[in-house]
Amino acid sequence: MQQPPRTLYLDDANDAVVILDQTRLPAEVAYVPLTTAEEAWRAIKDLLVRGAPAIGVTAALGLYIHMKRFVQEKSPDTDAFLIEAKRVGAYLNTSRPTAVNLQWATKVMCDAIAPYANKTEEETYNTKQSPAYAQPATLLQILRDTAMQIYNDDINNNRSIGQHGATLLKPGMGILTHCNAGALATAGYGTALAPIYCAHEQGMSLRVYADETRPVLQGARLTAFELQTAGVDVTLLCDNMAATVMANGWVDIIFVGADRVAANGDTANKIGTLGVAIMAKHYGIPFYVCAPFSTIDPATPTGREIIIEQRDPAEVTDLWYAQPMAPAGVKVYNPSFDVTPAELITGYITENGVLLPPF
Ligand code: MRU
Repeated sequence: MQQPPRTLYLDDANDAVVILDQTRLPAEVAYVPLTTAEEAWRAIKDLLVRGAPAIGVTAALGLYIHMKRFVQEKSPDTDAFLIEAKRVGAYLNTSRPTAVNLQWATKVMCDAIAPYANKTEEETYNTKQSPAYAQPATLLQILRDTAMQIYNDDINNNRSIGQHGATLLKPGMGILTHCNAGALATAGYGTALAPIYCAHEQGMSLRVYADETRPVLQGARLTAFELQTAGVDVTLLCDNMAATVMANGWVDIIFVGADRVAANGDTANKIGTLGVAIMAKHYGIPFYVCAPFSTIDPATPTGREIIIEQRDPAEVTDLWYAQPMAPAGVKVYNPSFDVTPAELITGYITENGVLLPPF
């Protein structure tokens, strides 16, 4: 199977997180080095890198790169190092609000070095006596190891999601997916597309229907691109064609990703997912959310508490057109995500198995 281009990687020699610029796909495969926290923030905000797990990995690596530069330029003591890491983690969290993997990843990073913070005077003294633990160079190494762990765990978890999800597939099945929850949305292999890749690697022939996913077209530009690259049979649909495809009997199962799963199972994902779930219920098609445990947020009780990102109206009025396709100044509603209530979800495919009710 031909792999899609790598989503991102750490370039130690140049102190950079190198990301594939997904705004230029599928026309151009171009990589951009991120060398500061500000560049990482901007790349996440502007969707150069996107997809909940990929955003988390970028933030973790971006935090590490920032701290490496900070140590080189400012020679901080341990306390200053810890304060700066916390500040930058909080700053990166503001780039996008809905995907919990972002806050999860910066928290994992800050927690890895937290044992060296908030010490009593005596503990601080003792810690400082133990350079193997407390020096900024050591903390930097902990941050690098932690970020790489997040990166590698993501790929491994996705492979497990793929193996578990593939048990639900049979040769010749039609699968509908929305947005891009593939290799490009993660450090590799994807979540909603992972079962498809896994089955494809086993030689199973499948038909995939990819919603184009207005307004930013992650389905058309990214899902169609990566499935076609991998040699999977993919058919692109406008979002408003999904009901017809289901009514035709062409869809046997639906796999989508998630940006945040609330404690009660309500799931935020790309705008339009809710409509797909409602249609699936009508046509009796199983609807699965594919996501690692890092996307499950026990601190958010229900979908009502999930913050939904609102994006630039120009994505709706201007983005793909030679000239604006709406009257100047028209009011635009452009939420990036919606919440699918748990009762519409057949099950959750995670790295630990397929979770089915009763949960
Ligand atoms: O706005 P995006 O492109 O970041 O939205 C992506 C999605 O909604 C994905 O389905 C979700 O992040 C899961 S990615 C494995």
